[in-house]
Amino acid sequence: MTWSANAPSNIALIKYMGKKKTSLHEGQTTPANEATNPSFSYTLPHLITRVEISESMSGEDTWQLLEQKDFYHFEMSQTGLTKFLNYFAFLKTKFGMKGYYQIHSGNNFPADCGIASSASSFAALTLATYKLAREKFQINEWTMEQLALISRRGSGSSCRSFFGPWCLWDDSVVRQVNLPVEISELLHMVVLSSATKKKVSSSEAHKRVSTSLLFDGREERTRLRLQALQLALAEKKWNVAFEVSWAEFWDMHALFETSHPSFGYFEASSFEVLDLARTLWSEKNDGPIVTMDAGPNVHLLFRKDQKEIFSFVREKLSKRFKIISSI
Ligand code: PMV
Repeated sequence: MTWSANAPSNIALIKYMGKKKTSLHEGQTTPANEATNPSFSYTLPHLITRVEISESMSGEDTWQLLEQKDFYHFEMSQTGLTKFLNYFAFLKTKFGMKGYYQIHSGNNFPADCGIASSASSFAALTLATYKLAREKFQINEWTMEQLALISRRGSGSSCRSFFGPWCLWDDSVVRQVNLPVEISELLHMVVLSSATKKKVSSSEAHKRVSTSLLFDGREERTRLRLQALQLALAEKKWNVAFEVSWAEFWDMHALFETSHPSFGYFEASSFEVLDLARTLWSEKNDGPIVTMDAGPNVHLLFRKDQKEIFSFVREKLSKRFKIISSI
């Protein structure tokens, strides 16, 4: 018998960066992952992780790559594997599950290069394990919000993959945000500057940003931007949404560059993509919402009525870079 689930990735426009001190105790196998600021994201249903779980006689829980057509091959690092299996052990205890299991998982996009594969992986693991626990151990029903909040223990950003198209995570609340339909069916493109693995993991980034002098005031800045962004989207003021999102990802990357020791993810190609977006905005007074996660890849969001700009950007960039897009 196999229990399976798919979960989407998400891209934050207001970034979760930094955890409360109580969340950072060394040696905790499943940290609480309490964010120091609210975050707000767009769910990406075309970028998914699939998790399949079956019973195992091996006397331990194991993980293997799920080989499937259109799925990317990746090597899970030892740290990544430990984090994944520790979280699974935590879920087993929470759901009162007995026995050992074999977990297979795979993504239809490259992992560890700034496309938030941890969000979709931990959300899919939570959902597949919950299905198993419901069927095999008859546990009570959990709400989506309860599942999202438990998934946060595996990876903070995964809690936002439970809701869409827009999701807000603020302290211990995770919920869907309703916005006008034109803003709820966006086209997404991620320009893969590089598929090499990240040098500094997001877990390490969350710790290190607190050493930046710019970290003071970060929560206030994100709250102001969150308010401005939600209002801009609700009123369909796309240029304001672009400006707020642009300022926000630079804020997060400025924290990285001013941490001790400093670190960063930009590559020359990231600047090339950003420059194209900036030129579009200044020449046409229109363009995509732009953002970057903890990686060198640039994410672009377009409204459906911007298909022409979308095709122009894709055409131009696909000559130099690999692109993954929702259409
Ligand atoms: O979920 P984590 O711990 O991998 O955090 C990732 C946070 C960012 O992707 C960098 C930003 C965000 O809000 O998704």
